[in-house]
Amino acid sequence: MWKDLEISVCRCDSGQRREKPDQGNLGFGSYFTDHMFLMKWSRKDGWHDAEICPYQDFSMDPAAMVYHYGQAIFEGLKAYKGDDNQIYMFRPEDNLERMNGSALRMCMPRIPVETVLKAIKALVYLDRDWIPTGDGATLYLRPTMIAVEPALGVRPSEHYYFFVIMSPVGAYYAEGFNPTKIWVTDKYVRAVKGGVGHVKTAGNYAASIMAAEEAHRAGYTQVLWLDACEHKYVEEVGTSNIFFRIDDELITPPLGGSILGGITRDSVIQLAKSWGIAVTERQVAIDEVLSAIEDGSLKESFGSGTAAVIAPIGELCYQEKKYVVADGKTGELSQRLFEELQAIQNGKREDPFRWVVRIG
Ligand code: COI
Repeated sequence: MWKDLEISVCRCDSGQRREKPDQGNLGFGSYFTDHMFLMKWSRKDGWHDAEICPYQDFSMDPAAMVYHYGQAIFEGLKAYKGDDNQIYMFRPEDNLERMNGSALRMCMPRIPVETVLKAIKALVYLDRDWIPTGDGATLYLRPTMIAVEPALGVRPSEHYYFFVIMSPVGAYYAEGFNPTKIWVTDKYVRAVKGGVGHVKTAGNYAASIMAAEEAHRAGYTQVLWLDACEHKYVEEVGTSNIFFRIDDELITPPLGGSILGGITRDSVIQLAKSWGIAVTERQVAIDEVLSAIEDGSLKESFGSGTAAVIAPIGELCYQEKKYVVADGKTGELSQRLFEELQAIQNGKREDPFRWVVRIG
C-alpha cells in the first residue's frame, strides 16, 4: 500500500501566500510557511491522500480521539540554508525512524519513511524562500500524527492524520546561546520506566508545563528532571538531553526507558568521541553534580536538542540553593560542539558522519 502512495501537489495561489516575518525577530514557532504536507490513514485503506497543499486549518469532529485521550506524536527537525545557497537537512531519516518508535509505543501506524522523506524534501524545496539565513536562524519542521476517529472508547483510533508544518525560527531560548538557568525539581516527575518518557508524545510535554511555569516564576529557563522513583538521578532538561563535563569525562544519563533518545544527543556523543573525549552514558546523581560544582571538577554542563541545539547551563537551583556552573559562562566544549554542529548542519564543514542531506 505504501509503495504506491502518490504525493499530489497543490500550490498556493498568490492570494493564499503568507506574509514573511522579520528575520531578526523570529522567536520560536510563531510563523508558518505557505505549504504543509498531509496524509491520512485508515485501518481499511492504510496511508492515502498524500498531498502537499496550502497551509490550512483542519475541520475535525469534537469527538476526534486526539482531543480526549491525547494519542499524538511528533518530531522536530530542521532545514538550513548554507552560505553556498544550498539547502541542507540534518539526519531527517533518524527523526522519521524515531517517530516510528513513538508510533509503536502509542499503538499508532508506522509511517512510510521513504515516502515521507520525499514529501519533506519537496515541501522544503517548495517553501525554500522561507528558510531564514540570519545567525542561528533555521526552518523548523514539525511532523505530527494525531488520532482523528470520532469515538469515545479508550482504544487505538481507526483513523489518523500525519502532517508536516514548517516554521522559520530563531534561538529556542530567549538567552540565545548564552548560559541558561536551570531549576532542578524534586517535586514533579516527568516519566517512569515502562511509561512513555522515551517517546515523543504530546502528553509528556503537557505534563511538564506546571513545573516549567514554577521554574519561570522563580526566574529560571527550564526544569531539570530527576528520576521518578528516588528523585536522585538526573534524567533530562525540559526540552533537551543533558551533559556534564566532570574533569575530562563527558557524562550523560543512559537511555533507560524514561529519557528521550535525542538525535542531537547522539550527534554530540559521536562528535566528542571522534575528538578523543571520553564519553560515558551512566547514571549521574544530582548530589554528584552538586559536589562536582563545589569541588570545581564540574567544568561545564549543557543541554542538547534539535530546537535548543547546544544550550550551555550557567546555574542550577536545587532545594532553593543556587549553584553557579562554569562561572556562569559558556564552556569551551559547549562552544566547540555548538560551532561544529552548526557548521556541519549548514554545509560549511566536512560531514564525516554523513548526517547531512542536501536538497534541491
Ligand atoms: C525539539 O527539540 O525539536 C523539540 O521537540 C523540543 C520542542 C518541544 C520545543
